[in-house]
Amino acid sequence: MTANTMKAIQQDRFGGPEVLRYDDAPIPELKPGEVLVRVHAVGINPPDWYLRDGYKMLPPAWRPQLTFPLILGTDISGVVASVADDVGAFTVGDEVYAMTRFPDGAAGGSRAYAEYVSVPASDVALKPAGIDHVHAAAAPMSLLTAWQFLVDLGHDEPNPLQPTRHEPVPLVGRTVLVNGAAGGVGHFAVQVAKLKGARVIAIASGKHETLLRELGADEIIDYTKTAPEDVVRDIDLVVDSVGGPTTDRFLRTIRRGGALFPVFPLGFSSAEEARRLGVTVSATQVRSNGAQLAELGRLLDDGTIRVVIDSTYPLADAGRAHERAARGHIQGKLVLEVR
Ligand SMILES: NC(=O)c1ccc[n+]([C@@H]2O[C@H](COP(=O)([O-])OP(=O)(O)OC[C@H]3O[C@@H](n4cnc5c(N)ncnc54)[C@H](OP(=O)(O)O)[C@@H]3O)[C@@H](O)[C@H]2O)c1
Repeated sequence: MTANTMKAIQQDRFGGPEVLRYDDAPIPELKPGEVLVRVHAVGINPPDWYLRDGYKMLPPAWRPQLTFPLILGTDISGVVASVADDVGAFTVGDEVYAMTRFPDGAAGGSRAYAEYVSVPASDVALKPAGIDHVHAAAAPMSLLTAWQFLVDLGHDEPNPLQPTRHEPVPLVGRTVLVNGAAGGVGHFAVQVAKLKGARVIAIASGKHETLLRELGADEIIDYTKTAPEDVVRDIDLVVDSVGGPTTDRFLRTIRRGGALFPVFPLGFSSAEEARRLGVTVSATQVRSNGAQLAELGRLLDDGTIRVVIDSTYPLADAGRAHERAARGHIQGKLVLEVR
């Protein structure tokens, strides 16, 4: 390694976890509007393995064109190593966390699985002092997703998933059902819905019951024993953080005038039935937002929102972390430790 190189996880072709290699890469050059962060921890998210694999779940025309070697990853926590001249909000030595360039960098521009990453200052917030880098790196994408779906979209960009803007719905006194409740997005959605005054029914496999009670779930349905769509009715809002083609079955659990938010909306095919039942179906794509991370940082700092860690791996073992992800049933988040 020379003065201008760092260690990073790179890949030269699409494929399984075996394509990820730990190797030297150039330290990113700082551009106007950016800060360079010495990364301490990297949070792992589903777009990482979608990109690793070449976004095979998307129709061919939608798959991003990109150049190799590729560096995956969006979510980081670390220490500011340098700051562009036009950035006044951060100084060298600040502890920060961020979701880097998403979705603009989703085709390989975010490059977080590395010792250094350059981040637009507008994506960055001071790390909550009350949590360590592992917990801070675990939060950004999953927590911003829960927040932007449930509380505040936080931007006016066009919605790539539907012609209309995604609008959160009132939560106080409402019953919210969260599917995939123990996963990255789900465990934050449970806490955010509770924080905003909802009664929460959490759906997860039974091993997550104790955790979900600790996070505030009022009722838990173990989907391995009971099909939730057979036992719940009159729900105000379903947040389906599993999503895909099985989202449709939740329509019959929702009251007329209620809403279904499929966090992974590809495969939803019952728009006509939703209209007939009077259920609003709405999704959005999470966007980087340093101001929202600053606001959420206060809730992480004082423990109002808790970050749950499934497991951690050294950066060099990113492939093993992706193998863990492929086994499913994640409780909270997977994180790579960089130092
Ligand atoms: N719209 C956006 O911008 C956006 C942003 C972030 C993520 N997403 C999408 O949201 C989805 C979830 O992401 P994530 O990071 O939360 O994933 P994750 O951490 O892997 O969590 C998925 C959770 O779902 C549970 N699960 C699996 N099968 C289930 C089933 N049939 N019924 C109920 N629960 C089930 C799993 O545990 P158990 O099976 O043990 O309960 C796991 O806890 C992904 O598809 C991701 O691409 C979308």
